[in-house]
Amino acid sequence: MAAGYQKSYSLRAPLRIDLQSRASKQDPYSFFAGLREAGPVVPLKLPFVGKVWATTTYEATAAMLKDNALFVQEGRHAGKSGVAGLSWWMPHAIKVLSNNMLLKDEPDHRRLRKLVDQAFQRRLVRDMRAEIEGLADRILDDIDGVDEIDLVGSYARRFPLEVICWLLGLPEENRGKFEEWAGHMTSALRGFAAIRVVFTMPGVVNYVREQIEECRRNPREGLISELVRAEQDGDKLSEDELLSMVFLLLFAGFETTTHLIADSVIALEQNPAQKAFLFADPATRMERAVEELGRFMTPVQSTKPRYVARDCEFFGQKLQRGENIVGLLAAANSDPAAFDGPDTLKLDRLPNPHLVFGTGIHFCLGMQLARVEAQSALSRLYGRYPDLELAAPDDLPWIERFGLRGVFALPVRLNAGS
Ligand code: HEM
Repeated sequence: MAAGYQKSYSLRAPLRIDLQSRASKQDPYSFFAGLREAGPVVPLKLPFVGKVWATTTYEATAAMLKDNALFVQEGRHAGKSGVAGLSWWMPHAIKVLSNNMLLKDEPDHRRLRKLVDQAFQRRLVRDMRAEIEGLADRILDDIDGVDEIDLVGSYARRFPLEVICWLLGLPEENRGKFEEWAGHMTSALRGFAAIRVVFTMPGVVNYVREQIEECRRNPREGLISELVRAEQDGDKLSEDELLSMVFLLLFAGFETTTHLIADSVIALEQNPAQKAFLFADPATRMERAVEELGRFMTPVQSTKPRYVARDCEFFGQKLQRGENIVGLLAAANSDPAAFDGPDTLKLDRLPNPHLVFGTGIHFCLGMQLARVEAQSALSRLYGRYPDLELAAPDDLPWIERFGLRGVFALPVRLNAGS
């Protein structure tokens, strides 16, 4: 056990820090610094959820995510039924199709991840960068000649969706329809808007089922056909697992990447000296810059919750079997014990051991893809529009959702002719 496990804290009354508010999205660093002062593991009270333990330091977050025996996904391993936190963290789409690896403990997780890894990595080893940059260019061609656009709607959402549809091998003629569905399912998470999901869901499930069937009959280029074929030690994906897997890939990689791209533009525009530094030599500086933009903005601020598998003392707190705990990735990424001057954007930061993509057995499967997407999106966008600027920098419409840092829309002026 890490040394920190021993130090004792007595805080058990949940803190009512509002990690959904616009203020917390505008300046998360002071919110997380406040939380860290209360200890490395603190109880939070979240609206609609109730009490959840949260890790606030780099060390505690990494330790929690790496201890997959003590912190589990499946309720049956913690004296509960169901899966930890499903009612609030995930898009409804995934809730319905919950037979996926993110919601499984070992050995089921390993089995599913191995099967998809095999198909995923085979495609990644081929050079995808040129294809991905081509997709970015095509989307940018569509906005050519327009001066002011919503960067989220016109680019940051469309681009990762096009990439994942292409990767899965979904036909181009269905992309428009698909984009509309995906929009409904990722934005409509709260209140009455959630009704839209109920109506959208069956159509999407049927569509994906049809595509899987089609790929069985006539294998084509793309990940769906490879997943249909994927076999590990004589093991194959069941029908439900395949469907859940395709949905997980679609939704885990779509909204997250959208926010990484839009958040990066916000950070660059708010830090002009760093923007100038990057674009003075983008070919050599972009890779490291995207790591830092990810750390600085941390679009996925919290992991999915886990259950505590048994009563224990963890970083000084007494946790009980069956309680929920999340890793606050954004707090870890702004911990001064792990990063020098964490509230400053330093695009050449090295080392940069951020937790943007989590860690432990559930670390992001799409990490390499997301990196290439963000690097390509920024290079192509600023390559064409170096003088781009935020049209309403003082009025960013932050999404008020726990666990996510992103904007609904991002009006920008492209300033093509200047
Ligand atoms: C898991 C972040 C893009 C597929 C995760 C986790 C994080 C994360 C933090 C761990 C969640 C947890 O432990 O509770 C991100 C970010 C992305 C991104 C910030 C973009 C900027 C993608 C893409 C894909 C993807 C493009 C695939 C196309 C997955 C999958 C898992 C996962 C399948 C579950 C892995 C497992 O349970 O073993 N991601 N992700 N992600 N991500 Fe991503």
